[in-house]
Amino acid sequence: MPESRPTGAVSFDNHGRVVLVSGGAMGIGRAICEAYFESGASVVCLDVDVDAAESLPGEIAFVRGDTSAEDDCRNAVGFAVEKFGTIDVLVNNAAIQPNASYVPMHEFPTDLWERMVGINFSGYAFLAKHGLPVMLAQQSGVIVNIASGQGHRTAREVAAYGPIKAANLMQTRQWGVEYARQGIRVVSVSPGCINTPMVQATLAEQGGEAKIANRHPLGRIGQPEEVAAAVLFLASSAAAFVTGTDLEVDGGLGAFAAFAEPYPITDL
Ligand SMILES: NC(=O)c1ccc[n+]([C@@H]2O[C@H](COP(=O)([O-])OP(=O)(O)OC[C@H]3O[C@@H](n4cnc5c(N)ncnc54)[C@H](O)[C@@H]3O)[C@@H](O)[C@H]2O)c1
Repeated sequence: MPESRPTGAVSFDNHGRVVLVSGGAMGIGRAICEAYFESGASVVCLDVDVDAAESLPGEIAFVRGDTSAEDDCRNAVGFAVEKFGTIDVLVNNAAIQPNASYVPMHEFPTDLWERMVGINFSGYAFLAKHGLPVMLAQQSGVIVNIASGQGHRTAREVAAYGPIKAANLMQTRQWGVEYARQGIRVVSVSPGCINTPMVQATLAEQGGEAKIANRHPLGRIGQPEEVAAAVLFLASSAAAFVTGTDLEVDGGLGAFAAFAEPYPITDL
């Protein structure tokens, strides 16, 4: 069977652009930071994890902050503008999905619920709220929200994560329409299962990588660089007519019927 292979180098020219990425110290956010840096952009990584950020390329600027705190988002935007003069691309990526969140609704710990709403939903809004005035002043900019396939359709025990990721899709539509006449585009990317620290923590509990990989029609889980490539495309001038919408980067998972047998289907 021909295999789907991870994306190689994707070429975009981002010289002269300033990019702010939340949760950029690890996983998908880190791949986005590195892809933008390698394509010439000035990059600011906003993250709570100072230790993880230390291994980022030295030219990527780092600002510590917790996106669930509005002041930290305001501060990160101010930091980026002071250092590089503006923000052209804002990537809302920081989110959490700890193992403790894989429980049914009636058992959901309230403190974890509030933490997930705070980071995964309010954090996206706070960063947009403070980034948008910078984009409005220059009448251009792109906001990219990292959503999830679990925001499109149900899965077991994602009582908080699923609905909040669905809200990220609606933030994309709402803001996309609201700011369309001011030169600002808002898009989102919904990954399938991607090989990051977040996922490595849960893969073992959920039956291992091979089982999860097999649910994706392309037969594997994705790499962070493949999500980064979609972000670079959507935020580029090649996608100038795209706003208020989402791109699933999921190895075909979202197209796969919920009631179908595990892939591949052998007895059709
Ligand atoms: N990995 C996947 O399979 C997958 C699938 C669908 C969607 N996503 C989404 O992709 C995004 C990135 O996920 P990932 O797998 O790379 O996660 P990850 O846990 O590997 O990395 C997340 C990063 O965000 C940072 N972070 C966490 N809370 C923060 C906060 N409050 N403020 C600032 N930074 C914070 C972490 O320190 C870390 O650097 C998330 O929005 C996630 O929901 C991931």
